[in-house]
Amino acid sequence: MSVTPVLEADVLRRQDPELADILLGEFDRQSTTLQLVAAENFTSPAVLAALGSPLANKYAEGYPGARHHGGCEIVDLAERLAVERAKALFGADHANVQSHSGSSAVLAAYAALLRPGDTVLAMGLHFGGHLTHGSPANFSGRWFDFVGYGVEAESGLIDHDQVRTLARTRRPKAIVCGSISYPRHIDHAFFREVADEVGAYLIADAAHPIGLVAGGAAPNPVPYADIVCATTHKVLRGPRGGMLLCGSELAERVDRAVFPFTQGGAQMHTIAAKAVAFGEAATPAFSAYAHQVVANARVLAEGLAREGLVVITGGTDTHLLTVDPAPLGVDGRTARGRLAAAGIVLDCCALPHGDARGLRLGTAAVTTQGMGEAEMSQLAAVFARVLRDGMDTQKAREEVRDLAGRFPPYPR
Ligand SMILES: Cc1ncc(COP(=O)(O)O)c(C=O)c1O
Repeated sequence: MSVTPVLEADVLRRQDPELADILLGEFDRQSTTLQLVAAENFTSPAVLAALGSPLANKYAEGYPGARHHGGCEIVDLAERLAVERAKALFGADHANVQSHSGSSAVLAAYAALLRPGDTVLAMGLHFGGHLTHGSPANFSGRWFDFVGYGVEAESGLIDHDQVRTLARTRRPKAIVCGSISYPRHIDHAFFREVADEVGAYLIADAAHPIGLVAGGAAPNPVPYADIVCATTHKVLRGPRGGMLLCGSELAERVDRAVFPFTQGGAQMHTIAAKAVAFGEAATPAFSAYAHQVVANARVLAEGLAREGLVVITGGTDTHLLTVDPAPLGVDGRTARGRLAAAGIVLDCCALPHGDARGLRLGTAAVTTQGMGEAEMSQLAAVFARVLRDGMDTQKAREEVRDLAGRFPPYPR
């Protein structure tokens, strides 16, 4: 194999064979099983090269041209490039690319706009809100007064009437739109209208769809939200990390909310890798990829529905879908275990109503591997056989290994 991780592994193997084995073991796992975790993807070798570069050695507190450390002239170029590419990609006046993760980006958005104790309206955790949208186990639930909106019982779609009613009665300081598992496009214009009506800020947590936005396969929240927070490692196919986009009027507040309020030194190797990913995401090839991700998710949803699983909201507009496997006689947890044994890796998720667990699947990683609609149909069939018929796991594992082997994430 000629890709960066394995080259690095050769260096590692000489010095630290124990850790090299772990690294190669994970590489083997990723290459021989199917990654349907909706938040994962395979970055390009170029992104991995930037991540494993000497920029990892550099301390760079502050922003380009205004650092607290010496010797930042070169890394400043990398951050400026990442910022300019992000602005151009998403049509934003301002971009901050320093957040270490999606959660740090959300924390910074709250820090820029809110005070402890403020009321925030966001999707309830049971309906697909993220931890940072008010979980009592997270800073958000402890420091702010979160009110949760949900989805309609019948359709599984966001209950827009409830959003408007809660906004009018609870008068939040900010409204958050965005989710970990909502498979449909979000109506940003609606959320903007409600926010304006009650004098609230609108924060779009676009961690999941931001890569589709980059590829023109999902609506862009930037024209509607005061601040857009996102991750760079999902469909966007960059390094693990976060970013914020906003208008110039909030630029200074956002920057100060990231550094020095919530973070110290920027991770320059990751920022360089973000620049690489933004460059890749601006290409026609990435746009084709983003549209294929959605086409694959739709075919997978149709296939699973045909096999008898309940597809929440009846389908998907995005890279992810959520399903209830109960009609096949298994609950979400059992289903995840059986699928994992067959080499199909995915997550459980809450189902909109009741306590049963469902499954969340995403097509970003398998599409990066080059799989298309035919493979999604094959996958839906294996999926159902594993769950419904209790198919011989070994046989299913071989079929999955063969499928994965035909689409290596890092071809030789
Ligand atoms: C909607 C949403 N917000 C925030 C995050 C947090 O991202 P991270 O895990 O990088 O902190 C996620 C992660 O999946 C997410 O889906």
